[in-house]
Amino acid sequence: MTGAIRSPATFDTMPSVYIKTYGCQMNERDSEAVSAQLLARGYSLAASENQADVVLLNTCSVRDMAEQKALSKMQNVIGVDRKRGGRQILGFLGCMAQSRGGELIDQLPDVDLVLGTQKTHRTGEYLDALLSGSRDKVVDTAEETGSESAIREHLGHGIGNDSRPVTAFVSIMQGCNQHCTFCIVPSTRGEERSRPMDDIVAECRELAARGVREITLLGQIVTSYGRRMYPVQDGRSAFVQLIEAVHAIEGIDRIRFTSPHPKGYGDDLVEAYGRLPKLVESAHLPVQSGSNRLLKLMHRGYTRERFLEIIAKLRAVRPDIGLSTDIIVGFPGETEEDFLETLSLCQEIQFDQAFLFKYSRRRDTPAAAMPDQLAEEVIEDRHQRLLAEINRMAMAKFEAHVGGLVEVLVEGPSHRNPARYEGRTRTNKIAVFEGSPRHHGQILNLRIERVGSFTLYGNPAILGLD
Ligand code: 5AD
Repeated sequence: MTGAIRSPATFDTMPSVYIKTYGCQMNERDSEAVSAQLLARGYSLAASENQADVVLLNTCSVRDMAEQKALSKMQNVIGVDRKRGGRQILGFLGCMAQSRGGELIDQLPDVDLVLGTQKTHRTGEYLDALLSGSRDKVVDTAEETGSESAIREHLGHGIGNDSRPVTAFVSIMQGCNQHCTFCIVPSTRGEERSRPMDDIVAECRELAARGVREITLLGQIVTSYGRRMYPVQDGRSAFVQLIEAVHAIEGIDRIRFTSPHPKGYGDDLVEAYGRLPKLVESAHLPVQSGSNRLLKLMHRGYTRERFLEIIAKLRAVRPDIGLSTDIIVGFPGETEEDFLETLSLCQEIQFDQAFLFKYSRRRDTPAAAMPDQLAEEVIEDRHQRLLAEINRMAMAKFEAHVGGLVEVLVEGPSHRNPARYEGRTRTNKIAVFEGSPRHHGQILNLRIERVGSFTLYGNPAILGLD
């Protein structure tokens, strides 16, 4: 573990890097950008952690379980590496790196690098320093002005037609000022900072020129995009103005975004769903709870009634809209009545998909200090009951497609069975069919024949004959 062992002379070729990503799409996107930056510096990407000279874990802090997973992974990597003489450079990126900083090296002294969420784009320069021995350890979790604009490189161009990505994530903003009482994100991702609209549009144009047809606009609270940079115009928020600008790009056929806040679904955004055909009929509205009492304790900024009103307005402009949500069970003080309100809200709305989270006490969040933290058994019981309901709901939405046509953007060979092809419907469901390389990147109509576990199976429909 000295600089000499790690000097570049040790490497015949440039070092290889393995990045493992935990958590949300923002982390996926950050890891992709880091990989692209490292490739541009001459590093190669390793197929597994065992073959890599550098192992980076891009971490999530949203729940304790996510942190524990990354910590135990790092312990495993260290164990294997030590047996081989401790040659690897090991690092943490992402939200846990931001919130724990140097503590991580105190706990795991074999770790060399801890980079916060505003420093991801500096991974290459710090790795160079560690590999050359000019630095022994690096911990950098400082804020950096302009870092929100640093995540822009993409992987995957020029690797051949069949692997060319047809969908891409584009980071539009970082941070969140909402301060929901359960959430660690404001402290891990910082204050809201938005990228200039022109930069985002230029990035989307480049992606379109490379064959990308679907863009997902990404950020911790995308609906707050640019609100201090671009004034409301004709009643349209900066976020809606951005969607319009991306909508105007030739070659981009589908637009999605995540994560929004329900309060961001103002009339301008609802109206945009009715007006902009490339904005797919799919919306994620994280409700968290169906109880007004809990929504207030969570500091969510809407009521159950307002939430239902937004859903009704969205369904009025796009009756087939696919709706997904996030729900927390077991928030401090949640009573059986509060829980039943969440259950009844789900039954009333019939979401296409719901992500359930057991409440996890996060350091320095207001909810961590609230009275009436619930027992694990109570949380587990409510989780099971709600999960059963949500699975029933989601399956019914899938079954409803059988016999019908769905429009699919073909993304490539199926993950489960590479002999088949898969794509996503406009409502964000995976659909699998017997395809071939010529289908890659096409928008097809599939006739749905059956449903597997949260997957649609069908055949390309020959319109006119079908
Ligand atoms: N405990 C459990 N779930 C949480 N989430 C955020 N913070 C917590 C927490 N402390 C969930 C919310 C959010 C999703 C990304 O993670 O439902 O929408």
